[in-house]
Amino acid sequence: MTRTLYIVSTTVFWLVVFGLGMTSALWNPGEQGDAQAQGKAVTLAELARHAAPGNCWMAIRGSVYDLSAYLPAHPSPPDIVLPWCGKEATEAYNTKTKGRPHAPYADELLAKYRIGTLAKAH
Ligand code: HEM
Repeated sequence: MTRTLYIVSTTVFWLVVFGLGMTSALWNPGEQGDAQAQGKAVTLAELARHAAPGNCWMAIRGSVYDLSAYLPAHPSPPDIVLPWCGKEATEAYNTKTKGRPHAPYADELLAKYRIGTLAKAH
């Protein structure tokens, strides 16, 4: 009796685990996820319209970030970062304009401000 109960409950347990796994796999199709992850495509012209301290977008490594809310917290003096608002700033970000990369923590912060991808020039 105990043995039967054990076998049945173990079987039911694994069926539920497998079922949930399949459901989440089907529920989250890759294509939809990718489209969401990419966000809107921003042209260089549109990027350039966001070049003010309170309205600052930057393109870094193919993505576009709205850094307006973050800039006041950036540890460098403002004049080091602000000139990059509205621009393609990968090189500046990669080197901090001093030949040294940002800490991994900066990359984590950056991800939170992503709003889209930089549109390819035609
Ligand atoms: C693209 C233009 C940028 C330039 C030229 C730049 C430059 C710098 C410089 C010079 C420092 C050192 C400050 C100091 O310790 O006195 C620094 C630090 C830092 N920056 Fe930036 N930054 C830029 C963009 C960003 C962005 C977009 C983020 C994140 C959203 C960020 C996050 C940080 C963090 C967390 C630190 C402290 C840790 C570290 O040195 O890596 N920065 N940045």
